[in-house]
Amino acid sequence: MQPDDLHLHLRDGDILKAVVASTARVFRRAVVMPNLKPPITSVKQAIKYRERILSAIPDRINFTPLMMLYLTDHLSKEVIETGYKEGVFFGAKLYPANSTTNSSDGVTDIRKIDSLLETMQSIGMPLLIHGEVTDLDVDVFDREAYFIERTLIPLLSRYPSLKVVLEHITTKEAVEFVENNKGKLGATITPHHLHINRNSMFDGGIRSDFYCLPIAKREKHRIALRKAATSGEPCFFLGTDSAPHLRNFKENSCGCAGIFNAAFALESYLEVFDQENALDKFESFSSIFGAKFYGLPLNSERITIVKSPQLIPNFLEVKQNDKIIERIVHFHAGKILEWSVVSSYSIVQSKL
Ligand code: NCD
Ligand code: ZN
Repeated sequence: MQPDDLHLHLRDGDILKAVVASTARVFRRAVVMPNLKPPITSVKQAIKYRERILSAIPDRINFTPLMMLYLTDHLSKEVIETGYKEGVFFGAKLYPANSTTNSSDGVTDIRKIDSLLETMQSIGMPLLIHGEVTDLDVDVFDREAYFIERTLIPLLSRYPSLKVVLEHITTKEAVEFVENNKGKLGATITPHHLHINRNSMFDGGIRSDFYCLPIAKREKHRIALRKAATSGEPCFFLGTDSAPHLRNFKENSCGCAGIFNAAFALESYLEVFDQENALDKFESFSSIFGAKFYGLPLNSERITIVKSPQLIPNFLEVKQNDKIIERIVHFHAGKILEWSVVSSYSIVQSKL
């Protein structure tokens, strides 16, 4: 069954054009994050952005972007109501202010968006959360665990029927918390957090290619995530958090957070499921649990994946008027992955 990517960054302009096919050739749908510059805070912006995404998809590929609203302190309830009821917004994203890339317009204090959350709860609109505190007293490696204590627990008790997804979980604490609250809480898990731990960022020097947020943690957390992803528990599902940044913005004295994994995401996950002897759990994780959590119909299309090794190229090229202007490093660049997607995307019937 064709999978969905339930957490994805596609960016805009030349980068969007360079990266979107990587996702669309494998995934049938993707939840597209709204942290553009400026962020997607209105229905009109989301409609326009969706049009730009659709026009960047190669002909004949059947791919549905699910659009997200970026929550801010001053957003009106009307944007939520109208955007959700008109089918433009799939959900809304909570970025605590300054927690990650392009989050400076995010929420400074969760209590400031009480009326928005109430509205979302009453209309059934899902809340997707970047779960990290930014308090100065908290170590960067503890930001997720503190978020659960300080923000998420009170939030879930204030809004007991709000549909909540804790995005890109990175800790044992998050795994346990989600398991204990399944039913009302889901979580996405990225491929990179299943492969790397915090040592990867310092392997022989400072390795910006492995810097992302939430930051990779200790090995015990990676092990907990691998167990969760392959557990067959419906509360854990696929969301790549593929976050492309141009090479020169990663290799910088203040390098950007984000790992571009979209082009070989499925192969990357499969390697983990194979190593964990859990290939039988892969289809549920990648194609069923997320859709069910969100109440989406299951995809009817299928893709074919074989155990056949492939060398992962170093870069994806970004072009402007057919001229290469920059490059984005692939996750697993220069490494061999054991699996390959052989037949992928579904064809748009009307264009056949
Ligand atoms: C993401 C980005 O670059 O947009 N970066 C990342 O490290 N994951 C933002 C995010 O999801 O935190
Ligand atoms: Zn993300």
